[in-house]
Amino acid sequence: MNDTFLKACRGEKTEYTPVWLMRQAGRYLPEYHAVRSKYTFLEMCKTPEAAAEVTIQPVDILGVDAAILFSDILVPLEKMGAPLEFHEKRGPVFLEPIRDRAGMEKLHVPDPEAELGYVMETIRILRRELAGRVPLIGFSGAPFTLATYLIEGGSSKNYFLTKKMMYTDPALYADLLNKITDCTTLYLKAQAAAGAQALQIFDSWAGVLAPNDFAEFAIPYVKRIIAALRADGVTVPIIYFANNGATLLPQSLESGADVLGLDWRITLDEAVKVVGQRVSLQGNMDPIALLLPPAKMEKLIQNILDQAKGARGHIFNLGHGIVPEIPPEQARFFVEAVHRLSRKG
Ligand code: CP3
Repeated sequence: MNDTFLKACRGEKTEYTPVWLMRQAGRYLPEYHAVRSKYTFLEMCKTPEAAAEVTIQPVDILGVDAAILFSDILVPLEKMGAPLEFHEKRGPVFLEPIRDRAGMEKLHVPDPEAELGYVMETIRILRRELAGRVPLIGFSGAPFTLATYLIEGGSSKNYFLTKKMMYTDPALYADLLNKITDCTTLYLKAQAAAGAQALQIFDSWAGVLAPNDFAEFAIPYVKRIIAALRADGVTVPIIYFANNGATLLPQSLESGADVLGLDWRITLDEAVKVVGQRVSLQGNMDPIALLLPPAKMEKLIQNILDQAKGARGHIFNLGHGIVPEIPPEQARFFVEAVHRLSRKG
């Protein structure tokens, strides 16, 4: 089996730098559209054969070193009792945003096998179909990022309602976050039991918080999830990705994750100065830089490889998700170039 990804997560030596792309199963691939045209997005998440098919597409097409389960961070929130729709232009919409105690109390912690069985079934199909070719990454959102969607009702510009709850009703905020944390802990535990070989926790909007607020209102919940998973005997590598989190690295280290994901706003050598040898690093090319012509992209990749030399381990990735406008040939070139350039050492 190709275990370069798992080795790099654990800080073991590898012959080349493993690479995968956040959002690698997605709309930049015509093959994705071919499957997606038969379902709505949520239907596809709930149809294990279809979800498994698009999960494997980037493994076949790009040659990445890990597969990431096709689903969405918001899928478990629907089962907490928050009706969810995905709109073509607006993105995700929660029809009944959570803004008061009554709303929070209506939410429940779903049993993952009973209520999110389609996710576990997708994982079981994928482990069979991947047959050891590459490891499978499961994932969840981080409690803070998930809470922003529940409270705002969708994406947001300034997270006014989330911060309003944090600052004016901290007890309600804590009760809501604790419920999301319980849900996420059980959900990730079930994914590992179903066969996920690593787990990534996406904190996409952590970067809107001041460092002190991140320390008080976001990271303790991530820490609790990881500690609970470890106490329950889950041993797979855990990656924590706080988008726009360069200034939050000291607190992110406290999460207990094995790997920290980085966006492109910090160089990897600067990050190593903060994290030392305590964790491996994942990242961090600007996703739009996939448009660079080959020679320039190679130069950028080489730069990032050089900056990662002092890291305990390095998993190459983008600094955020690949966007639909990227030509697949460019993504394929990126993966091939990371392999080729890192082999030369
Ligand atoms: O990485 C992968 O390939 C696995 C699948 C995956 C999706 N979403 C599929 C998806 C993963 C890991 C996610 C995570 C996710 N979802 C995050 C965290 C990562 C990040 O980007 O910061 C967030 C914030 C979401 C919430 C979400 N889902 C939004 C805001 C949107 C709409 C905007 C957009 O990018 O379309 C989605 C929809 C979504 N999730 C799509 C895909 C492939 C597009 C849906 C479609 O096919 O129409």
